[in-house]
Amino acid sequence: MTAIDRERSTARIAGDLETLSGPGYTLTHEAIRRYAYTPPYRRTLDYFTRELEALGFTVTEDPVGTLVARNRPPGEPVFGVGSHCDSNRNGGRYDGTMGVVTALEVCRLNEEHGLGLPLQLISFLEEEGSGFGQMLLGSRIMLQRVTEEDLRERFRALDDGRSFWEHAEEAGYEPARWRESSRVLDDLTGWIEMHIEQARVLQDTGNRIGLVHAIAGYVHADVHVEGRGDHAGATPMDLRLDPTTVLAETVLELERLAVAAGRGTVGTVGEIEVDPGLINAIASRVRFSLDIRGPEDDAYRGVATAIGSFAQEAARRRGMEARVTERQTLPATPLDTRIVGALEEAARATGEPFMRMHSGAAHDTMCVAERVPSAMVFVPCKDGISHHPAEEARPADAALAAGIILDAIAALS
Ligand code: GLV
Ligand code: MN
Ligand code: MN
Repeated sequence: MTAIDRERSTARIAGDLETLSGPGYTLTHEAIRRYAYTPPYRRTLDYFTRELEALGFTVTEDPVGTLVARNRPPGEPVFGVGSHCDSNRNGGRYDGTMGVVTALEVCRLNEEHGLGLPLQLISFLEEEGSGFGQMLLGSRIMLQRVTEEDLRERFRALDDGRSFWEHAEEAGYEPARWRESSRVLDDLTGWIEMHIEQARVLQDTGNRIGLVHAIAGYVHADVHVEGRGDHAGATPMDLRLDPTTVLAETVLELERLAVAAGRGTVGTVGEIEVDPGLINAIASRVRFSLDIRGPEDDAYRGVATAIGSFAQEAARRRGMEARVTERQTLPATPLDTRIVGALEEAARATGEPFMRMHSGAAHDTMCVAERVPSAMVFVPCKDGISHHPAEEARPADAALAAGIILDAIAALS
């Protein structure tokens, strides 16, 4: 076990997080809002680049903007650490960024203690989908889980409707070379992502560290319901084609189905668009999103199929039509037992309380794990709150995680 000065690590991690939540690093001061190709995102990449170059790492970006830093030349085996530094649009300081900061601390400790571990840090592009509504975009590009048509046409900026392709080119990247992104994983012998837990299991059980053995899968889809726009006062109740009624029925049915499915299944309608969205008009159409997840593929996928049929039937019953379009589906991902085992050994040696757990939230590790043996380390976040400015986590726990990750990599190498 490396004799680490955890207070020094804590101070460095706290300093990084303080800087990266300050002015210049977010688009609004009510929350952390940072996503691909915006100036705050660029500054964040520049910050990590400076810190890593100071440690002797060579820093590059893949053809769409995922940051890759190595302390060995290409072709030599390296162990991967990292996360993402974009945020939810209404995000906090920790989701993603704390993982990249902790990975940076692993790199610092490696140099400071002269361990000579071959490392590669990755900070993935657009994990949150805040720029283009597509979660895990950078890692899905890396794993070729998108098509050229998706990147050129289908994936569009939430802000201005222009394509991902156009935005990437404008930011100076070469989206035409997107397939080369897969090379980033070529030399990896393993991968560990550190992240805040985003639930309250660690807090409630008094554990400081969670070792993740599996990540829940998900279905992301949209339901579009066509009704008939009309006057809210003059149209009798029996002469309406009001698409918000289908929305209301579907939200409640999703709750019922997810509860009935059990086994960790959850379902959320998070985006609702009502057109035209006026107090005195019946809506012409609505669009709402479906986010359905769980650790067991058959359970949450069953709910996804059932809720799609339910929405279509509810619309038909009311004389309207509903269309369900899928955005993306990722299966539940088991993580590597050898890496989880090495983390467990390293965690036990610290004498601090830890546990094994699954992740309900999605992570880029779901993609990386297809090619590289992977695991994740969680630290508690206050009351489990995330995707919200009230998000809070302790740098001291991240420092503990950095030491555990470092020792696990040393043991595996
Ligand atoms: C990723 O941020 C997720 O929503 O799980
Ligand atoms: Mn995240
Ligand atoms: Mn997130």
